[in-house]
Amino acid sequence: MTTFRECWQAALYGPDGFYRRERPAAHFRTSVHASELFGQAIARLARAVGADEVVDIGAGSGELGKVLRAEGLSVLDIELDDELPASLTGLVIANEWLDNIPCDVAELDENGVPRYLLADLTPGNVVDGNDLAWLQTWWPLHEPGDRAEIGTARDQAWADVVHRLTDGSVAVAIDYGHLRAGRPPYGTVTGFRDGRECDPLLDGSCDVTAHVALDSLGGSLLLQRDALRALGVSATRPSLDLAQTDPLRYLSELSSAGEAAELQDPSGLGGFGWVWTANGEDTVRRASRALSA
Ligand SMILES: C[S@@+](CC[C@H](N)C(=O)[O-])C[C@H]1O[C@@H](n2cnc3c(N)ncnc32)[C@H](O)[C@@H]1O
Repeated sequence: MTTFRECWQAALYGPDGFYRRERPAAHFRTSVHASELFGQAIARLARAVGADEVVDIGAGSGELGKVLRAEGLSVLDIELDDELPASLTGLVIANEWLDNIPCDVAELDENGVPRYLLADLTPGNVVDGNDLAWLQTWWPLHEPGDRAEIGTARDQAWADVVHRLTDGSVAVAIDYGHLRAGRPPYGTVTGFRDGRECDPLLDGSCDVTAHVALDSLGGSLLLQRDALRALGVSATRPSLDLAQTDPLRYLSELSSAGEAAELQDPSGLGGFGWVWTANGEDTVRRASRALSA
C-alpha cells in the first residue's frame, strides 16, 4: 500500500490533483488575500535589501506579484510546472508554500518504534535513515500513538531554494508552524475546502496541509506580527477628529488599520513564522535592520 505521503502528493499534485484544478483563494485565506498591505510590506523589504526583483515560489494565482508590480518591482512567479531557476536573485518569498509540501507521517507503535503511516492510517515500515535522525532531533515521540510529520521534505525543499541564492539575495519562508518546544503530540495534518477546515481526505477533493517545523528549516526566525510592524504596517486606528475633518481619509485609514490587525493577529496570520536567510554580510545586515522593530 502507498504511504500517506505518496497519497498526499497525488491528491494535491497528481493529474487530477487539487492544485491542478483549484485556486487557493477559493478555499482558504492567506496574508496575500487578506490585504495589499502584506505585499506593500514585502516591497519595502525588497527595497531595504536592495532587491529589484522578487521571486514568488508557490505563487498560487499571483496576487502577491500583482501588488509588487504595482510597487515598481519585477516579479517572477513560480508555480507547479515551473522549474526553479539555477540561481535566485533578489528577494525570494515563499508564502504558505512549505505547508503544502507533503511529508511522511510517523506514529510510535506499542513497542516504542516509530513507523511510517500508510494512506489508510495504519502503520507501515519502521522509520529509518535521515527521517529517523530528523525525528530524534526535531520531534521526539514519547507515547505509543504519538504522531509527527517528518520535516525532511520541507527542509530539503527550502535548502534547495537557499542553495540557489546569489550573493546579495534574501529568501523568506512564511508559514504557520511550530517549534521544538511546542510540537503537538498528534501532528497537524488537516484539510481545507470552500473556506472551511475539513477532514484531510487524500482524494483530491480538498487542500491537505500540515504546520511547518520552522526551526528545522535553518535561518533566522521571527513572528509575522513583528516583521510587519518593523516594515511599517500599522494597526493603529485613526483619531475620531479625522472623521470630522476628512471623513474619506478616516474611512480609508480605518479600513487599513483593520486589515493590518488581521495580518498581525497573534492567534491568526500574525502568529505565522518568517524564516529568512540572506547571502552576504552586507545583505544580512540590511535584512536584520529592516526586520528589527
Ligand atoms: C497555499 S498555496 C499559497 C499560494 C500563495 N503563495 C498565497 O500566499 O496565497 C500553495 C501554492 O504552492 C504551489 N506549489 C506547491 N508545490 C509547488 C512546487 N513544487 N513548485 C511551485 N509551486 C508549488 C501550489 O500549487 C499552490 O498554488
